[in-house]
Amino acid sequence: MTKLDAAPLGTDMFEAMASYLKDYKEAHAAARALPLPAPPEVDHVVFTGMGGSGIGADLVAALAAATSPRPIVVVKDYQVPPWVGPRTLVVATSYSGNTEETLSAVASAREQKARVAGIASGGALWTLLEREKLPRYRAPPDRQPRAALPLLFGALAGMAERVGLGSFALDEKDENHLHNVHVQLQPKLSGTEDTALAMAGRLHNRQPTIVAEGHLAPVAVRWKCQLNENAKMFARAEILPEANHNDLVPWAEGKSGPAEAVVLLRRRDEPGHVAARFDFLSQVVAGRGAPLESVEAKSRTPLGQSLELLMTGDYLSVYTAVLRHVDPTPVDVIGELKKRLERDGLARDARRRLGV
Ligand code: PA5
Repeated sequence: MTKLDAAPLGTDMFEAMASYLKDYKEAHAAARALPLPAPPEVDHVVFTGMGGSGIGADLVAALAAATSPRPIVVVKDYQVPPWVGPRTLVVATSYSGNTEETLSAVASAREQKARVAGIASGGALWTLLEREKLPRYRAPPDRQPRAALPLLFGALAGMAERVGLGSFALDEKDENHLHNVHVQLQPKLSGTEDTALAMAGRLHNRQPTIVAEGHLAPVAVRWKCQLNENAKMFARAEILPEANHNDLVPWAEGKSGPAEAVVLLRRRDEPGHVAARFDFLSQVVAGRGAPLESVEAKSRTPLGQSLELLMTGDYLSVYTAVLRHVDPTPVDVIGELKKRLERDGLARDARRRLGV
């Protein structure tokens, strides 16, 4: 049994995750009540944000893909597309409110006369949203951006619901199930085996490839990013069916790497063709002798499944950090890069364009 030391490593991350479902629900409810433009006024929607503030956009866009009557585009760069205009709603998310790509994208959206809304805990983005009285959700401060995901995801989901892109309220049965899953994931210093901790024990010295499909595709990306930032380790995310047309080949025919592992993110209601793809990949990976993990979301709805596997991956990444004896919280090199870019003036330029 993998045991967790009574060490302080990870404590703040575990604390931030303690209210995971409550955070999602409260942010969703608050954002759903915002005075966003009514559906007939909006032809397309752009979500923009980077890193821990951008993944919520991928999650909402993937969940809304089945229901949204309007195109949703996720921008993780400095500029919104040229077709963005007065009939586009652009929702910017930046936990710090100071990320230069996001501020620049907002500046371009404003210059192209788009309707703008936003999510931030402060910074230049919040100053703009407040000053211009734009629809906005304020996240509480003092978390790492990625640890604020339930709030940022919930707020964006609430806004998406408000503008008619889909329904993102938690199903009651899913909520009960997710509460139980959450209890299981939380750290226990002694006693029963924990699935996420046990998996961390098997993965912490490897380079895992996380595989998912459909609305769970961004969840695989989240696992990869959380392993990168929290556990300070390399990880890959591969998306089906696309990965069957390229990444499958080295699993079958490539030379063995020293520390491979594959994690499949599955759901109880996956269509037959998806199951066939996972089964085939599992056989290929088993033939290679690489360790294979399969995690199945038992929730009934796509939203419940996403939250279930998000929680699992987030806890797994913090357990993995602890087992690697690294502090999951600081990501100093990202801060260093931001400081270096600040000297080059693009964030300053974006703030000037926004008048903040
Ligand atoms: O997790 C992190 O700390 C990063 O991925 C940040 O989210 C990213 O750098 C963007 O910063 P912010 O979330 O403040 O806009």
